[in-house]
Amino acid sequence: MNAPESAATIFDTLSLDELRTRTSEKWRYYAPDVLPLWVAEMDVPQSEPVIAAVTDALRRGDTGYPGGRGYAEAFAGFAADRWGWELDPGRARMLTDVMIAVTDVLKVLTAPGDTVVVNTPVYPPFYDFVRDTDRVVRAAPLTADNRLDLAALDEAFVGATVFLLCNPHNPTGTAHTPDELAALAELARRHGVRIVADEIHAPITSPAAARELGRPVFTPIVTVPGAENAISVISASKAWNLAGLKAALAIGGPEAAPDVAAIAEIADHGASHLAAIAHAAALTHARGWLDEVVAGVDVTRAHFTARLAERVPDAVVHPAQATYLAWVDCRAVRTADGSALGDDPARVFLERGKVAFTSGLPFGEGGQGFLRVNLATSRGILDEAVTRMGATLLA
Ligand SMILES: Cc1ncc(COP(=O)(O)O)c(C=O)c1O
Repeated sequence: MNAPESAATIFDTLSLDELRTRTSEKWRYYAPDVLPLWVAEMDVPQSEPVIAAVTDALRRGDTGYPGGRGYAEAFAGFAADRWGWELDPGRARMLTDVMIAVTDVLKVLTAPGDTVVVNTPVYPPFYDFVRDTDRVVRAAPLTADNRLDLAALDEAFVGATVFLLCNPHNPTGTAHTPDELAALAELARRHGVRIVADEIHAPITSPAAARELGRPVFTPIVTVPGAENAISVISASKAWNLAGLKAALAIGGPEAAPDVAAIAEIADHGASHLAAIAHAAALTHARGWLDEVVAGVDVTRAHFTARLAERVPDAVVHPAQATYLAWVDCRAVRTADGSALGDDPARVFLERGKVAFTSGLPFGEGGQGFLRVNLATSRGILDEAVTRMGATLLA
């Protein structure tokens, strides 16, 4: 049963005044009169198990370099319980963070000048980090309903070396299905293209969607038949709001173990010990907290969609099964004088309405006229955001 509209969620815990005391990017990038619903940080209190684990480590002076396999073991436990993914923690590599880990993996699988395919629109650092490693990005669009487009990928894979999959997909919140991923794996094999999957959003899936599907919403790429040579890059940082405590894991399927082992030794120097402790505590002891977050996102997604339909009826919120992001098509939205918002509606709402969303433009092809909303916040803040959007159109 869906939570009733009025029930409190974990996002109702902190007031706007409390959130504004934060010094992270979400709260410091824009002036204080701007309401921030952009970068992927969550408006939640940190879970008690993570606070306890990090505080305890500080008290014991356990603040040296990372040691042991605690993070990988905690992740293996979570992956087995939640997704039935049995992995060998001894084969995982702990790396700096997800995007740096993607470049560490690319350096093993590709050479400078090689082509890396991405699905557009996609998380903007996919372009920046691939290009920064002197690889070439080739765009293959998702379908109009944000699914994997196998025909587009078939074309894009010609002469390519790697497909950088976003699973689930940021910004659309698409959770690729087991069938879609199996077809993708088969296609990639046929072209000799290796799949590297950024699975950072994996734990953030809709409980309502899971009930409807009767299976986990997220499918780990490495468990897909045919994708035994894929590599997953994953972290607890997104789902437990731990971006300030950097660490990630690279995990290969059985055929990819030698590639993960071949990642340069210097890559092991990035993650911090306190991050590994925090992520392990989250994965092991803060699962109830995560359950509250994902239940809360179902509520805020439905709430935002309904309020937007009232105040900005021509905006289209794309349905999503995962992430706490909403991908909003503003191409049909008009101001009171009948003018369109143009390619960058986020800029219009920021400048005229003092509400910050993420612009669709840096997501690449398919991002024009779209914006991305961060739903990991209270319904009160979402209401204020929608009010500011409505006022912008009337101004
Ligand atoms: C798809 C995706 N990958 C990676 C990241 C960033 O992860 P990290 O800070 O570990 O590099 C994000 C952050 O929102 C993301 O959405």
